[in-house]
Amino acid sequence: MATDSRALRCLVTGATGYIGGRLAPELLAAGHSVRCLARSPGKLRDHLWAGRVEVVRGDVTDRDSVRAALEGTDVAYYLVHALGSGSGFEEADRRAAGLFGEAARAAGVRRIVYLGGLTPEGVPERELSPHLRSRAEVGRILMASGVPTAALRAAVIIGSGSASFEMLRYLTERLPAMVTPSWVSTRTQPIAVRDVLRLLHPWSAQRSAADERDAELSRNSWISSIDHSGSSSTLRSRCSAVRSR
Ligand SMILES: NC(=O)c1ccc[n+]([C@@H]2O[C@H](COP(=O)([O-])OP(=O)(O)OC[C@H]3O[C@@H](n4cnc5c(N)ncnc54)[C@H](OP(=O)(O)O)[C@@H]3O)[C@@H](O)[C@H]2O)c1
Repeated sequence: MATDSRALRCLVTGATGYIGGRLAPELLAAGHSVRCLARSPGKLRDHLWAGRVEVVRGDVTDRDSVRAALEGTDVAYYLVHALGSGSGFEEADRRAAGLFGEAARAAGVRRIVYLGGLTPEGVPERELSPHLRSRAEVGRILMASGVPTAALRAAVIIGSGSASFEMLRYLTERLPAMVTPSWVSTRTQPIAVRDVLRLLHPWSAQRSAADERDAELSRNSWISSIDHSGSSSTLRSRCSAVRSR
């Protein structure tokens, strides 16, 4: 457990995933103690930092394991989604977020930090994709939990290992030319994974007086870059990078 008076006890859910797996070592490096909630703890074994975190086997849809994981936690990072579970993922995410918020409140967690998806401004929620609509709903559920919650929202995250980036890499490195679908003209605001981690981290790392005063507030913020490039321009940049090797 953390010994520095500024060190926090952090719970990282989704540590076997892209963002959680990168955040855990950042939190350790900043002197915090880290507990990971994982369905398959074995997946964490190969990480260099695996021996420095406490791992609790569990599932965010299981009340008992969530309670156990949250016990003694200062800051709980909610970095999971049920997209891989197929149809009905919205209900699974809704239930898990409700359960997590309730358990976090009961455990006296000081802050929940959630990373969701960036939704286009002015577009009614019913017009969003089921995934984005569900991500927004999860943010609302956590913010209504009674635990001060930072609900951050990002668009495509660029970095090695990110599913969206790997798809881009795969397409641009293998295909000599492509007939692009209409979504390439969709405007997007990509952000580098390093920036995402920098923005996630301070929510637990900085405990200035002002931050303490704000502790009762829940916030919903977008964190993507201010560059509104179309997906086609992201693809073009990647193609140029591949060509210039
Ligand atoms: N990657 C991006 O480009 C991107 C962009 C914008 C926002 N985000 C947001 O960032 C957050 C993290 O995304 P990610 O890309 O890191 O996701 P990811 O790589 O797909 O990882 C998802 C994680 O959730 C865990 N998980 C799923 N269902 C669970 C359950 N029932 N109980 C416990 N753990 C469960 C998975 O564990 P298993 O290993 O057991 O499956 C995995 O660790 C999400 O909220 C996402 O919306 C990501």
